[in-house]
Amino acid sequence: MSLMTILDRVADVPTFDKVLDPARRAVNAVLRPQAFKDLLHGTWLGHPLHPVLVQVPVGSWVSAGLLDAIPRLRPAATVLIRTGVVAAVPASLAGAADWSEQAVGVRRLGAVHAVANTAALGLYVGSLVARGRGRGTLGRVLSYTGLGIAGGSAAIGGHMSYAQSSGASHAATAARALTSDWIDLGPLDDLPEGRPALRTGKGGSIAVPLAAVRRGTKVDVFIGACSHLSGPLYEGAVEDVRGRECLVCPWHGSAFDLDSGAPRRGPAANPQEKLEVRMEAGRVMARLPNHQR
Ligand code: FES
Repeated sequence: MSLMTILDRVADVPTFDKVLDPARRAVNAVLRPQAFKDLLHGTWLGHPLHPVLVQVPVGSWVSAGLLDAIPRLRPAATVLIRTGVVAAVPASLAGAADWSEQAVGVRRLGAVHAVANTAALGLYVGSLVARGRGRGTLGRVLSYTGLGIAGGSAAIGGHMSYAQSSGASHAATAARALTSDWIDLGPLDDLPEGRPALRTGKGGSIAVPLAAVRRGTKVDVFIGACSHLSGPLYEGAVEDVRGRECLVCPWHGSAFDLDSGAPRRGPAANPQEKLEVRMEAGRVMARLPNHQR
């Protein structure tokens, strides 16, 4: 059985859901207000923040492992381990923020990822204590053990990202399926004012949902699957969020700027794919901009 199959099986096991649900509520209670949580999601960056932040502890700890193999460089290894321990704190907070807004299978695997990371962090802290007391051999045993666990945990995180699409833009995936060039969305007058309407484009033999929002004679058209977890944006609402008119997802409340598609409120960190629009004899025509095709 491959590692990927094992991880997929773990994601199907509901045994610990009774623990995970309160843990999720606790994360949501602690990571407040919403602006703080959005900071951790990376909504301001237009990219998930967690994978950016984890570069520091992972890089520091791997480098420390190499330096520890050369006796005269061991003091530098200690500095890197300390750097990784400090950097692991914001990385963990960002991971917890994302974890709390994921689907149940990702949350199960994410819990394993978090437990393994916590164990690795504890081992590195223990290693620093041992090194500080002059017990270098013990310190190296603890840090190499921590590195092994952190490496295994990174593989789980990779599976969550690549196989379970936990940080991917689901809107970008839907946009890639769109095979139509200019799509006829029907007469402008058929679109309701100030709320999204469902329209579709062709994606081979399937229909790709679009969300069209009319404001007077202006129409903004987005891929209908929310970039966060594919929620139906065409069933959302138009609201003022942080001073901008936004299309708000009905599933977890992510808000996307109607003018640009940029996320204004999380949990979405990725922008929402927006189509270019032109009018043709009173009909609304839309297509993906060149850079998205
Ligand atoms: S699917 Fe989660 S906010 Fe849209």
